[in-house]
Amino acid sequence: MNNPSRPRGATRRVGPSVNNAFYEDLGDRWLHAQDDPVALLRAEGEAKHAWVEEKLREHFAAPPGTPGGRALDILDVGCGAGFLARRLAAQGHSLHGLDFSRGSLRVSRRAEDPSRPVRYLQGDALRLPFANGVFDAVCSMDFLEHVEDPAAAVREAGRVLKPGGLFFFHTFNRNPLAWLVIIKGLEWFVRNTPEHMHVLRLFIKPRELARYCQEGGMTPVEWTGVRPDFRRRAFWKMLRTGIVPKDFTFVLTPSLRLSYLGVAVKDSR
Ligand SMILES: C[S@@+](CC[C@H](N)C(=O)[O-])C[C@H]1O[C@@H](n2cnc3c(N)ncnc32)[C@H](O)[C@@H]1O
Repeated sequence: MNNPSRPRGATRRVGPSVNNAFYEDLGDRWLHAQDDPVALLRAEGEAKHAWVEEKLREHFAAPPGTPGGRALDILDVGCGAGFLARRLAAQGHSLHGLDFSRGSLRVSRRAEDPSRPVRYLQGDALRLPFANGVFDAVCSMDFLEHVEDPAAAVREAGRVLKPGGLFFFHTFNRNPLAWLVIIKGLEWFVRNTPEHMHVLRLFIKPRELARYCQEGGMTPVEWTGVRPDFRRRAFWKMLRTGIVPKDFTFVLTPSLRLSYLGVAVKDSR
């Protein structure tokens, strides 16, 4: 598969490429595998997606189906198997899901609830096939660390947002602890973790992401960290077995040292 994450005109890259081919080949393991780091992505999604829903409700006041509520136009960029897109569509919002991986999009379409369809598109997040200012919200969950030019991806998200719209992001901070926990921890403790699933040089410091948002005409308004719930037995069981138990959970934390998510508002100009 081509690597769309390589910036146009780029001539040099220091260090390995991130392994985006991994998602293309996952098939239904996206949805069901527990002996795979994708199980952690699903588990983390429970915490992250609930936070996104809460921020949407706070910002847009009334959800669809309630008095004064309206369906929002939402784009999920790098949607993978469509976990967040399906969840928001189930609430009555109008969803587009875009991903470079055709294999992942096939899984998303198979998992879809026909009564709450998501419009899935194959494409590159760096050249979104949408006009300016058409979405109320753009989500980029566990995605920006998968492209060589995250600033350009953030600018594209900003371009397609309506003034006052929300840009949601989730990614990983870049520091030695993140290398140890997120890269090495997964390689050592979770079965079937592929080489270069993540690469440290593509992790993003919060201040860098804040700058990308500002360059894209957006102002970050809220941040939160996310971490595994170490207090539960499921965490320790995963370390012993390499399999992610179904009751593995993540919790929100004030610390942005490792995994973090946030939301920015598109300037009203
Ligand atoms: C870690 S997965 C995250 C999937 C989903 N957002 C989630 O949280 O479950 C990263 C996704 O980004 C996609 N991706 C990587 N580069 C991309 C690009 N330039 N344009 C669109 N999708 C891309 C990959 O195919 C993969 O599905």
